[in-house]
Amino acid sequence: MTADLTSLLAGARIMPVLTVPDAATAAPLAEALATGGVRCAEVTFRTPDAEQALKAMTAHGGLTVGAGTVLTPEQAERAVSAGARFVVSPGFDAEVIARCRELGVPMVPGIATATELMRALGSGLHKVKLFPAEQLGGTGMLKALAAPFPQARFVPTGGIGPAHLTGYLSHPAVLAVGGSWMASAGHLERGDYDGIRRLTAEAVERSTP
Ligand code: 3PG
Repeated sequence: MTADLTSLLAGARIMPVLTVPDAATAAPLAEALATGGVRCAEVTFRTPDAEQALKAMTAHGGLTVGAGTVLTPEQAERAVSAGARFVVSPGFDAEVIARCRELGVPMVPGIATATELMRALGSGLHKVKLFPAEQLGGTGMLKALAAPFPQARFVPTGGIGPAHLTGYLSHPAVLAVGGSWMASAGHLERGDYDGIRRLTAEAVERSTP
């Protein structure tokens, strides 16, 4: 049986979205995130080393690690083999959803319109990534979209920074907020793990009622 995303997140409300350049970065990154207080992370399939990075992040043991930017059923398989506990996509793809169901892993499709949300709900998926949240209109878009679909839960992601957190998290339909601001490409290039830990701790602090 497929695990439920809500129980996997166990109350965690911040989802760092990570584009990890190589596997060597993964261990100190996982340590910085865990020390900063997050409990989950999404490793995007955007780099050649994404699978190795996902494995290494999982091996840390302190985080529930999922795969992001999963665009094909084949990537979903590779992600699950590498240890992904959940799969996230920027859009809605019925084949990716079907493969994740076969693999028994929770899948969070990206949606940007009411029609896409209706497709997700029709496929039995009630937890969706609102993407790209800020570019779509931020909390105004979230409120408008949530109103006719009280059964939907959202993980707004895209263009979000610390200043937006409270606005999103105060909406009852928001499960968690995702973003790359805590561990940006710049931080990772510089090896600025202390900066990553600090921004993570700040986000966790803002997300705690
Ligand atoms: C994603 O794949 O979820 C996004 O690239 C994250 O968006 P952000 O980089 O604007 O936070």
